[in-house]
Amino acid sequence: MSLGMSTRAPTLFGPTNVPALSSRSCRSPPPARYGGRHTVTLIPGDGIGPELAKHVCELFRFCCVPVDFEVVDVDSSMASEDDIDDAIMAIRRNGVALKGNIETNHNLPPSYKSRNNLLRTTLDLYANVMHCQSLPGVRTRHRKIDIMIVRENTEGEYSSLEHENVPGVVECLKIITKTKSLRIADYAFQTARAKGRRLVTAVHKANIMKLGDGLFLECCKEVASGYPEISFESMIVDNTTMQLVSRPQQFDVMVMPNLYGNVVSNVCAGLVGGPGLVPGANYGENYAVFETGTRNTGKSIANSNTANPTAMLLASCLLLDHLKLHDYASMIRRAVLSTLTETKLHTADLGGQGSTSEVLQRVMNAVQSTGPRTLSM
Ligand code: NAI
Repeated sequence: MSLGMSTRAPTLFGPTNVPALSSRSCRSPPPARYGGRHTVTLIPGDGIGPELAKHVCELFRFCCVPVDFEVVDVDSSMASEDDIDDAIMAIRRNGVALKGNIETNHNLPPSYKSRNNLLRTTLDLYANVMHCQSLPGVRTRHRKIDIMIVRENTEGEYSSLEHENVPGVVECLKIITKTKSLRIADYAFQTARAKGRRLVTAVHKANIMKLGDGLFLECCKEVASGYPEISFESMIVDNTTMQLVSRPQQFDVMVMPNLYGNVVSNVCAGLVGGPGLVPGANYGENYAVFETGTRNTGKSIANSNTANPTAMLLASCLLLDHLKLHDYASMIRRAVLSTLTETKLHTADLGGQGSTSEVLQRVMNAVQSTGPRTLSM
């Protein structure tokens, strides 16, 4: 899309997946499809994950979405990695997954690897994309926020084991590579171009981590030179968080290494209303996994019928867009967003007293009023 013609996508939470380069799409296997139906891996995860997964299944059934879920449970308390290996194999088979977050208990030994991270790195889901937008019906301090966060998802601070050679001294590697930095920077600029965005901001701490973050920043600059129609700027991570909470509207597309991505994602989710609202997507060359943007488990509110299902439902819409089931995605997205404008149904995280199941019922009513069987596929 040329600069002169580019406009921002007007719809809230439209598809965040960006078309891969043509050479890449040639290599990607098509998602599994049997008898006109897609098979998608579903990993319920911990905390509120299983109940939200159940609601997505019910809603898909209600809407006659042509998707069958292959459910794979991952028990985060098991020392064995068999569960997560099964989940990874299922995603390789189906090409796509919807997942709840799997708990990573920080009291477990350092040798215990985050199941979420194992999944992302094994499948090389290198780009985490989260679109944070001000939402209708949700009161927040700041308005008109519309930020796309592109986070490197496979290296940085998440890449290595910690160890203690000298008692009381812990060493922890942060790995930044040129290849992966160029790859994520290019993904961010492709996203900006495909979405008609004007500005990419690289977030870093190159003033202190001169080699690691310095390399990341250099790679972003190099890639930026290939996208002359898109402005590029860089910002130190500490200033970024301050700017975000004071004037978030200045940001458009943001690109950053792994851990800053986690922090910035959580700040941005908070700015638009909290972890129950924003979906997230993980893309690689061959696979895609959809989940809530902030990846919390919400353990303390599990099984209380109080979790806000919006983020997970919107994640399921991203999944449908990825499967090119755009009509179903739009229908569900519209119903979810219209439900959000009914403040009397707001769940506790938004200051209301609505329950998860009441929200789901209203979403189904909204779908029914637009007619689930009128879709032309
Ligand atoms: P948490 O799960 O305790 O959630 C933080 C707060 O948000 C809680 O008050 C929770 O009730 C609320 N919340 C979350 N989802 C909600 C929803 N759908 N509706 C309403 N309220 C909701 O978050 P915490 O302590 O950050 O993480 C817990 C677990 O998640 C840990 O195992 C951690 O390893 C894992 N995790 C968290 C990530 C994050 O980005 N926060 C990233 C990766 C893993």
